[in-house]
Amino acid sequence: MKVLLTGGAGYIGSHTAVELVEAGYDIVIGDNFSNSKRDVIDRLKKITKKEIKFYEIDFTDYEAVDKLFEEEKFDAVIHFAGLKAVGESCSIPLDYYQNNIDSTLVLLKAMKKYEVENIVFSSSATVYGIPKEVPLKENMPTFCTNPYGWTKYMNEQILKDVAKANPKMSVVLLRYFNPIGAHESGLIGEDPNGIPNNLMPYITQVATKKLPLLSVFGNDYPTKDGTGVRDYIHVVDLAKGHVKAIEFSFKNRGTEVFNLGTGKGYSVLDIVKAFETANEVEVPYVIAERRDGDVAECYADPSKAEQLLKWHAERDLVQMCKDSWNWQQNCTNNF
Ligand code: WQD
Repeated sequence: MKVLLTGGAGYIGSHTAVELVEAGYDIVIGDNFSNSKRDVIDRLKKITKKEIKFYEIDFTDYEAVDKLFEEEKFDAVIHFAGLKAVGESCSIPLDYYQNNIDSTLVLLKAMKKYEVENIVFSSSATVYGIPKEVPLKENMPTFCTNPYGWTKYMNEQILKDVAKANPKMSVVLLRYFNPIGAHESGLIGEDPNGIPNNLMPYITQVATKKLPLLSVFGNDYPTKDGTGVRDYIHVVDLAKGHVKAIEFSFKNRGTEVFNLGTGKGYSVLDIVKAFETANEVEVPYVIAERRDGDVAECYADPSKAEQLLKWHAERDLVQMCKDSWNWQQNCTNNF
């Protein structure tokens, strides 16, 4: 079975590439390297000890995508490619709508022409907006608070409608919670351009003294210690969820939505303490103002994925912290 990974050189995409190869799939990576590095492909070859076929491609370019589908006979697509910074999406919304929606429309047009009927889409818990209750279930209301989230919401709707119009289609929507950690090799991991937006890459850079201290965005939320609570999931567990989703996609038609989370919520201070203890390092921090758009609590009810995908997260917070630190030290020293 041959699977196209759009944005496959990125954080989640590269980890999923490893798991798919190790599960025996043929993969092709397409990426424009706008938010990833070309040498990730070489590192994937090192980890998998296999050749990794890739194309440098912009998925909003229909001619290029049509040529790719003509050359490669895909059985399925996992669509990771997209801009993904919440804050940035508020300042350049047009770039986000154009890139994230057009790439999906172009991809679906090519899939229709070449009769590729299986797609797994990288969605996000951000589509739940400000949760009225936790844990979050897939049938709970969705409403977004930023353009990035709206692009995920709109892509989910486009995919549902396309599947409804074509009974042969299989669409699996995966709503990620907060992926952290890295492959045990330390060769791939979260590698944001510039100052990290997300908590864990910021913590790891404070621990290496690349950044002076962590700003904890608010300690007056209605949570156990006043700081934001999230469902942190090891990126390898998330990647393994995609293998299960592809298998599910081949066996089923229509659309299914799954939360990929652990079902556990940890606060910012929980993460800081767990990281310091697991790695015997210090993470100095200061309490700062709340960040616009943040919610108090967001964590998953992952029972639907456990039942239908036969998948659950296995790695604990200690492992997530150790693997994040291993990656940070490796990528600082070796690349
Ligand atoms: C986690 C917690 C912050 C940084 C976003 C997207 C989501 C997904 C993951 C793409 C919050 C706090 C953070 C810092 C802090 N992205 N924090 N200081 O916002 O839950 O989710 O990233 O798919 O779609 O919405 O993740 O890591 O930014 O924040 O105190 O320097 O850490 O307030 O409570 P978030 P995050």
